[in-house]
Amino acid sequence: MSDSRVFLVTGPTGAMGGTVATTLAASGHRLVLAARNETKLKEIADLVSPADQVATVVADTSEPLQARRAVSETLDRFGRIDGLIHLVGGFHVGPVVLTDLDAYLRMFQANMLSAVSATQAVLPQLDNGGHLIYLSSVLASEPFPGFGAYAASKAALQAWAKSLAHEVKGRGVHAHTVVMTMADTEEARAQRPHVNFEHATKPKAVADVIDFLVSPAADGMYGASVPVLGKFEFSTALMAGPPGAPQLNRL
Ligand SMILES: NC(=O)c1ccc[n+]([C@@H]2O[C@H](COP(=O)([O-])OP(=O)(O)OC[C@H]3O[C@@H](n4cnc5c(N)ncnc54)[C@H](OP(=O)(O)O)[C@@H]3O)[C@@H](O)[C@H]2O)c1
Repeated sequence: MSDSRVFLVTGPTGAMGGTVATTLAASGHRLVLAARNETKLKEIADLVSPADQVATVVADTSEPLQARRAVSETLDRFGRIDGLIHLVGGFHVGPVVLTDLDAYLRMFQANMLSAVSATQAVLPQLDNGGHLIYLSSVLASEPFPGFGAYAASKAALQAWAKSLAHEVKGRGVHAHTVVMTMADTEEARAQRPHVNFEHATKPKAVADVIDFLVSPAADGMYGASVPVLGKFEFSTALMAGPPGAPQLNRL
């Protein structure tokens, strides 16, 4: 497989899409960006240069038929497909008693079933190996209060991706999850002026790790969950440490 590969990028119209697309294109990869919103899709595609390295498909790839159409258009455009970069996701916060079942269904649809749909469309094309990349959250393993529906859907995604990784590694397909915390974007900073963004994840750091995971340098890795958490940490009153000792995390 050459270093320049062809990836279907699903859900590139969110906070991470532009940075992931421009980073992969800068490494020489060709991309088909697939999302539901044509206007936002064009804005993201316009960030990528050279322009002939990118194509767009207006599709909701969480629907199996539309996902298959996105793959077929990828093959028409570039003649091959080497993997999936799945950025589709949704977010919900609310206490259990105020979170209705529809919110759970939306979270599982956006964060977990969308990955199944896109993967089922791409995987049959990866006869010579390939890459499948999913994005999760640190909250999947350490959920904050109020994040139950979101955290459960991301935990389901990670469990499913691990199983998938074992299922497909024999045929040279690498399935990885990149685990992040809140993305450090201008929009997030404006919405949360009280938050210390030192603890957020830089989108470029995530994009660079994805770029590494699809490179030959990561050929020895199958089924990794890679934390890209910046300086994120949990704080607790117990961090005061043993009697007489300084707070070790503040040294
Ligand atoms: N940004 C963060 O702080 C953060 C933190 C941890 C993990 N992540 C994960 O990283 C990934 C990328 O993050 P992001 O912030 O760029 O994502 P995002 O803004 O939440 O959404 C990314 C994409 O998902 C699409 N989408 C949402 N629900 C969908 C559905 N039901 N069916 C089909 N498409 C749907 C959106 O399409 P439309 O434009 O059409 O709505 C958008 O293209 C996501 O999986 C997210 O959960 C993000």
